[in-house]
Formats: sequence, C-alpha cells, structure tokens
Amino acid sequence: MTDDEHADWATGGESAGPHERRRERAAGRLDAVGAAGLIAFPSRNLQYLTGFAEEPGERHFFLVVPAAAAGEPEPALLVPALYETQVREATTIGEIRTWSDGDDPVAATRELLADRGLDSGRLLVDDTMWARFTQDLRAAAPDATWGLAGEALADLRVRKDEAELAALRSAAGVADAVVGDLRDLGADAVGMTEAALADWIADRLAERGGRGVSFETVVAAGENGAKPHHGHGDREIRAGEPVVLDFGTRVDGYPSDQTRTLAFGGDPPEAYREVHEVVREAQAAGVEAVGPGVPASAVDRAAREVIEAAGYGDAFVHRTGHGVGLDVHEEPYLVAGNDRPLEPGMVCSVEPGVYLDGRFGCRIEDLVVVTKDGCERLNRTDRGWE
Ligand code: GLY
Ligand code: MN
Repeated sequence: MTDDEHADWATGGESAGPHERRRERAAGRLDAVGAAGLIAFPSRNLQYLTGFAEEPGERHFFLVVPAAAAGEPEPALLVPALYETQVREATTIGEIRTWSDGDDPVAATRELLADRGLDSGRLLVDDTMWARFTQDLRAAAPDATWGLAGEALADLRVRKDEAELAALRSAAGVADAVVGDLRDLGADAVGMTEAALADWIADRLAERGGRGVSFETVVAAGENGAKPHHGHGDREIRAGEPVVLDFGTRVDGYPSDQTRTLAFGGDPPEAYREVHEVVREAQAAGVEAVGPGVPASAVDRAAREVIEAAGYGDAFVHRTGHGVGLDVHEEPYLVAGNDRPLEPGMVCSVEPGVYLDGRFGCRIEDLVVVTKDGCERLNRTDRGWE
C-alpha cells in the first residue's frame, strides 16, 4: 500500500464509522483467506472490530463476523445478559443476543452460528481465545474446521487508521511528559525502591491523561538493568547508577511504550557512558533505516551492526522492535528473518539494548510511524542518561 493509498484507507471515505469500516474489511479479508467467518471473544480483536473493551471472563461472550461472500450477513454479538446495556451503548452491532446465568450458553452459541450459516466451513477464532471456549465452539459447530483470526485480521491491524494514529500519538505524548517529570525528579529518586518509583510513574501517567499502565513498568536499577524485562522490586536506587525505565499508558485504548535509561543524582561510570553512546547510535541508525518498502529485518540489521561493531553484539539479546497497536507487541516484528516490507501507517518500536550480566543494562526505545518518505517519531524526548 502506498502512502496515498494509505491516506485514503486510513480516513475511510465512506460515511461508516471506524468500527463498521473495520468489520466490512474483516469480512472481505475472510473471503481472501478462504474462511466462512470469524469468532472473537473479549480480546483486542473484539475491541478493534466493535470498540468494546473487556477482559476475558468465565461467561461466554462472542462476536461473530461472517465472510462477505456469504451475501454480507450482519455481524452479531452473543453476550451475557448483564452486559447488554453497556454493549448496546458502546457498539454499533445491529444484533445483540443475550443469555442469562442459568441458561445454556453453548445452545445459544449453536443457534447463532446456525442462523448465520456458520455451523460448517472454516471458522477463525481469536488467537488468544481460552481453550474452554474453543472446546465449546467445537461442540456448537461439530462440522466446522478451525483456524486463527490473525490470519484475516493481522494484515488489517498492522496498518493504523487515523483514529488509531491519533490515539497512539497522544499516548506517546503522555509518556514523553513523564520522562520530563523523571528528569525533574533527579536526585530525589535516590533511595526510592524500584517499586516506589514504578508507582510514582503510574501516578504521573494518570495525572497527565493516561489510563492505567500498558504493561508492567520496568524500573531496573544497576545490575537489574541487565534483565531486559525485569519489572520492578525492592532494590533501592543509588546515586549515579543507570536505571532502565520502560513504561507506557493507554489513551483511547491505545498504548505507549518507550524506554529511557537515566542516572539520578550523579554521573554514571565511564564504562556505562560508553555503552549508552553505542545504544544511542544504534537506535538512531534503526530509526534512520525505517521507511516504506524497507524489510523489517533491515531495521534490525541497521541497529545491530552498530552494536556489533562496538563489540557488544552478544549483549543485544532481543529483536530491535515490534509493532504497536491495541496489543503492545504485535506485527510487524523487526527481527532477523522477517523480510516483510514496511508500509505507511505501520507503527513500531525501535529499541536496541545492551545487557551486561551482573553489571548494568541500557535500552533506548521510541515508537515510530512509517510515512511515505521515512518515519515520524512519536517519542521526541532527549535520549541521554542525564
Ligand atoms: N523489549 C524488547 C522486546 O520484547 O522485544
Ligand atoms: Mn517495546
């Protein structure tokens, strides 16, 4: 898809709202992959297609989207009765069926699938659907064959429309503002535990308009920084040691995800400063490489070459980046072997790191949107350790 094509695609053109447009496109994608329909449960796919966000629970809750080839039958929801009002308010789905506690939800599911002509054929279910629900779907449609919804939806979700880009920009702005707050905190962070600083970050994210945290906040001080997904613990922050700070929040359902490695209340040792400079150059090289038509793997290579040339290749223990959308980690993955060309509207992280066991870690991460002639950074704050 070119940038002009993406601009048309991203803004729609039809009068339908974003969720209706996404359901229509999903129905077309189902045809393209030879599926009769898809079934989502409370998941990011359901949120993408309806606007309704809910955590999975023990009650049966399904969105059914038939393929366009079936004569464009309407999508439908089957929801627990206690959800009916909020689902009606939050979505534009025409048919919402309910079942009440004490009813048989599998019988209601069987009836809905049969009414939509989805009691046979190939049906795609959420990649994240709990096994107990996939088992009940098999019982409700014993003649169907099964696949995963990502087959149809990943190619839609990978390019962001205007509503998604606006939310991602806002969420990134909140995270950037909190990086500023952390720099202002300065020496006052010394003596705080990682956990206390993680709570402090969560409070600042909320104050600045974010909703919750988009993943467990990483505050990894000193040697803990060598574990890329350390989270946070009881370790106290010491003056001048590098602290890996990787955090995000959500705005309008979309997350931020950025990392800075900072030193509070003093300068870090020379050995760290050298590593920080290498990672900063690698991150710049990765961002520089992002553009339309560039294989995802080439961005990984561009960042990795800088780190390898400095002699730290073995210490860069993860891919250079991942796509970001409703899921914090989604396609496209910037990793060796993924030669998929980047396209306008894709959003991904660029986050090289160096991790030296028992000593320290350093990671610098920004989100970028692929544009027609390169990329736009969503995170713009300084990348230094100060
Ligand atoms: N934070 C690096 C990764 O999970 O890819
Ligand atoms: Mn990330």
